[in-house]
Amino acid sequence: MKKYLMAFLLFANLCCDAQQAGKHVEIPPMPNGKVWKDTKGNPINAHGGGLLAHNGIYYWFGEIKKGKTWLVPDQQWEDYRVPAGGVSCYSSEDMHTWKYEGIALPSVTGNAKHDLDTSKVIERPKVIYNKRTKKFVMWMHVDANDYSYSQAGVAVSDKPAGPYTYLGSVKPNGQMSRDITLYKDDDEKAYIIYASESNKTMQVCLLSDDYLSPTTSYTRITSAINREAPAVFKYNKKYYLITSDCTGWSPNPATFAVADSLLGEWTQGGDPCTGTGAETTFQSQSTYVLPMPGQPNTFLFMADRWNKTNLEDSRYIWLPLQMVNGKPVIKWVDK
Ligand code: DGJ
Repeated sequence: MKKYLMAFLLFANLCCDAQQAGKHVEIPPMPNGKVWKDTKGNPINAHGGGLLAHNGIYYWFGEIKKGKTWLVPDQQWEDYRVPAGGVSCYSSEDMHTWKYEGIALPSVTGNAKHDLDTSKVIERPKVIYNKRTKKFVMWMHVDANDYSYSQAGVAVSDKPAGPYTYLGSVKPNGQMSRDITLYKDDDEKAYIIYASESNKTMQVCLLSDDYLSPTTSYTRITSAINREAPAVFKYNKKYYLITSDCTGWSPNPATFAVADSLLGEWTQGGDPCTGTGAETTFQSQSTYVLPMPGQPNTFLFMADRWNKTNLEDSRYIWLPLQMVNGKPVIKWVDK
């Protein structure tokens, strides 16, 4: 009898939950450029980030920018910094409500020789899953405060949200590596794409099968202007690369390039942004492009609106990217 009563109570409780679930649930809006909060009401701290879709859940990884912003002395540009805070992770099933999963890769305190020391630069982390090794692999830009180190760092985990174990950093094929992104193709081959040669070229380098090291297959993409902030996506068997100009934390126009293969030849396109504000990428800088499931012509363009004198207060801009006649088109939307 007691068993039946317990079962009834459990059923009643489930019904109650289901009724509540059936009620109108307020999904917080994500107004572009305003503070976005996680499910606990704290501002989302995941800058220069990227998304990983895994088993129906989206994981958002980004730079933790926390603390007072300061200006590195004696630089020829506005080298504003906060202590390197490591990499955060948030998860979501609906891309609106974001749960804080914690620090996926922590920075290190008091070890100036370590790549991840708080005195260094940890930027633009991206994560992909390796089906063969069943590991989640993170690549990121690690650097010295004056950007003279220019290396690509790699970390690995058994679980999507981490914690990740840092394995070290490299200059792929001896090449400088600054702003970085990661792309896994349909054939499971993966590539790092990074600003190199003092930002004069973007380079694409095929990774080893375990995704943990660069191979010797790489290409240099040249253009008339320096490039940063790479974001790659694939559409109709072609690869598209959106990048920014190099103006520190200040916004500038984006451009895209297109290729039949990630290792090139790349052809320069133009500015994918259109309408008022296009000339500054709507006061933001690209970081990632995600294909929208079930919408073959539509992608999510993710960007950062940096606040250079208060980097912790930098905001996010997520806009729809539509493919029109083989060209990416990004227009402003309020949310
Ligand atoms: C622009 C880069 O895209 C950012 O990731 C960061 O490195 C800033 N420059 C630093 O000024």
